[in-house]
Amino acid sequence: MTARCLVCLADIRGEGEYHARCARALFGSTRVPTIDLELARLHTVAQAMVGHTSLSGIQRKVSVGLTADRATLRVAVEKGHFILKPQAQVFPSLPENEHVTMRLAEAAGVQVPPNGLVRLRDGSLAYLTRRFDRTADGGKLLQEDFCQLGELAPKQKYEGSAELCARLVRRHASEPLVAALGLFRQVVFAWWTGNGDMHLKNLSLLRGEDGVHRLSPAYDLLCTDLVVEDDLLALPVGGNRRGVTPRQWLDFASYCGLTPRAAGRALGQVHAALTPALALVARSFLPDEMKARYARLLEDRAGTVEAAARKAGSGYVAG
Ligand SMILES: Nc1ncnc2c1ncn2[C@@H]1O[C@H](COP(=O)(O)OP(=O)(O)OP(=O)(O)O)[C@@H](O)[C@H]1O
Ligand SMILES: [Mg+2]
Ligand SMILES: [Zn+2]
Repeated sequence: MTARCLVCLADIRGEGEYHARCARALFGSTRVPTIDLELARLHTVAQAMVGHTSLSGIQRKVSVGLTADRATLRVAVEKGHFILKPQAQVFPSLPENEHVTMRLAEAAGVQVPPNGLVRLRDGSLAYLTRRFDRTADGGKLLQEDFCQLGELAPKQKYEGSAELCARLVRRHASEPLVAALGLFRQVVFAWWTGNGDMHLKNLSLLRGEDGVHRLSPAYDLLCTDLVVEDDLLALPVGGNRRGVTPRQWLDFASYCGLTPRAAGRALGQVHAALTPALALVARSFLPDEMKARYARLLEDRAGTVEAAARKAGSGYVAG
C-alpha cells in the first residue's frame, strides 16, 4: 500500500506522512514538526503529570506543545496546546482505534477537534489532538463535563443515562436545541461504533470566547468493543445498554426535544456514513483482525440506524 496520511488516511503521493492541508489542520503549519517524544519516557512523564494538569482519566495521556519556532513537538507541562495518547500497556492499538473512530465521527456529522496520529522517535504511533479549550493567546476556556454539571463525583461517571445528559443540556446550554442535536448525534454514534466508554466525563459543555455555552467537540471516541468483547453502552438509552431499537432512538430524540425531521436527518447522516466508514476502517492503521471486527459491527448496527431514520419519516432517502 502507498503511504497513508496520518490525519485523513488517504494516499500520499510523494514524501512524508501528511498532506500539506492535513499537517496545517493539525499542527497549524504545513511544516511537520520534529516529534521529540518517545514511548519509554512518556510512561514516566504521564505518571509525573498526574495532578499537575487538568487532564484526568485512566489511559495515559500527556500534555504536549510546539516550541516557539514551531519546529518541535515536545512535552509541555503547562500551556500545551495538544493532548497525546501513546500506545497503552494493556489494550492494543488504542491510538489507531481512537484515530479512525474520530474520522468516522467526522463522516457521520459529529463535530471533532483537529486530530491525527504521530510517529514517535521509537517508531510507535500515538494519537494527537489539538485542545479545544485553549484560546490563541494561551488562555483557557471553561469546560464542564457532565459529571460536574450533574453535581456527581468523578467516580460516579457511569451512573448516568442518555436522558440525564439531555436534561443537563436543556438546563445548561445557551442554545439547548442545538446542543441537544449534538448530544443525540454523539449518543447514536457511540452506539453505532461500539463505544462502551461514553460516560459522563466524556461529554462536556464549553464556554466560548463569546460567552456561549455549547456542547464541546467530541473526544475520547473509540470502539471499546474491539478490546472488551461485547461492550455495552455506558449510558443507557431508554434503559437499554445493548440492542437499542429504532423506537427507542426516536423516543430519545423526542426526549431531547428534537422534531422527527431533525432526528431523521441526524440518523440518516449516520447511516449514510456507513460506506465511507468501511473504507476508512480498511485504510486505518488497525491490525487486520480488528479492521474485520470493526467493519462487521458497523454493518450489523447500521440497519437499526437506517430503520430509525425511516421511522422518523424525515424525507430521508437512503443514499
Ligand atoms: N481535544 C481536547 N481538547 C480539550 N480537552 C480535551 C480534549 N480531549 C480530551 N480533553 C479533556 O481531557 C480529558 C481526558 O481526555 P480523554 O477523555 O480523551 O482521556 P481518557 O484518559 O481516555 O479519559 P477516561 O479514561 O477518563 O475516559 C477529557 O475528559 C477532557 O476533559
Ligand atoms: Mg475520557
Ligand atoms: Zn491527509
